[in-house]
Amino acid sequence: MSYEQRMKDKVQILKSKQNVLILAIESSCDDTAVAVMRNGREVLSNCISSQIELHQRYGGVVPEIASRKHIETLNPLIDEALYQAKVSLQDLDAIAVTYGPGLVGALLVGVSEAKAFSMALDIPLVGVNHIEGHISANYIQHPTLQPPFLALVVSGGHSHLIIVKDYGVYELMGQTRDDAAGEAFDKIARALGLGYPGGPLIDQIALEGNPSAIAFPRSYLKEDHFDFSFSGLKTAVVNYIHHQEQKGETLKIADIAASFQQAVVDVLVKKTIRAAQLKNMNQIALAGGVASNSALRKAMKENARLEDISLCFPDPILCTDNAAMIGCAGYYRLLKGEVAGLLLNAVPGLKLF
Ligand code: KG4
Ligand code: ZN
Repeated sequence: MSYEQRMKDKVQILKSKQNVLILAIESSCDDTAVAVMRNGREVLSNCISSQIELHQRYGGVVPEIASRKHIETLNPLIDEALYQAKVSLQDLDAIAVTYGPGLVGALLVGVSEAKAFSMALDIPLVGVNHIEGHISANYIQHPTLQPPFLALVVSGGHSHLIIVKDYGVYELMGQTRDDAAGEAFDKIARALGLGYPGGPLIDQIALEGNPSAIAFPRSYLKEDHFDFSFSGLKTAVVNYIHHQEQKGETLKIADIAASFQQAVVDVLVKKTIRAAQLKNMNQIALAGGVASNSALRKAMKENARLEDISLCFPDPILCTDNAAMIGCAGYYRLLKGEVAGLLLNAVPGLKLF
């Protein structure tokens, strides 16, 4: 019997199995991550090896270096994830892997590894969209969460407002027209000389600043339009920094960070709440690295409460890139019988819609 037919048969059996164990791999950018998940939502292990130190001196991720590091790290990390989960390779029922969007070389490391494991263990392989993974982190954190809900996915590469109609069924309401929210945080942090990645550093230093100190622009675009744009804000902040420097003024870094952050948060909150009202959504889920921003969480909480909308977001470790979220998304794809064949390839520009 062919590999493909065997996998189809195995998925049928898995659908009624009590405990489905998935090994998940994520290598789309600068984190190598491996997790073991039980029945989609239960984390048995969630191992992450960050490459931040390696890329810090360049002020951003260097794709070639990222791929090489994934190659080195992945096998030992799989070993560690299995050990922490107290399972062996033979216990695994399926492999889930991120196949896009992301850096092509980085993705290929995970995809090739996952295909090899699928063949060697003769278990189904599931390809997962990274953005779907971020959304799914909320299922892990909130075991009773069910679609439909509105998701705001804000990370280093993405800013999307998405209606999650059902597991794996999405409608795009809006997305960034230029920089992603996290990208704006990273660029402003660099302009302020804070380092990389900028989001957590700005979040931290903003706690000591005045968010109303400088009136940076908010780009709302048109009323009831749900696309985002952060490049105008970024230019305004960079220009402000240059003007202050030209005048010989000492930069009030905490005030600039807090005022910039507030401008981002105001737009994200206003648009998300308005979108929820318009689509009659009574649940909002935040996802992606920027979802761990303390000012965003606080403002979204206050505004959602005023509108009687429930709000959820994952712990910071499940907001930034991890493999538990990929295992969760992969589980629901598996239940739908959506297995990838051995032709699965990395798709850097993979779309969710
Ligand atoms: O989801 P993620 O790990 O990777 C992508 O898929 O892009 O997100 C990383 C992004 C970076 O831009 C980082 O600066 C931002 O998330 N980030 C934050 C915070 N923590 C991470 N941005 C604002 N505040 C934070 N606390
Ligand atoms: Zn991500």
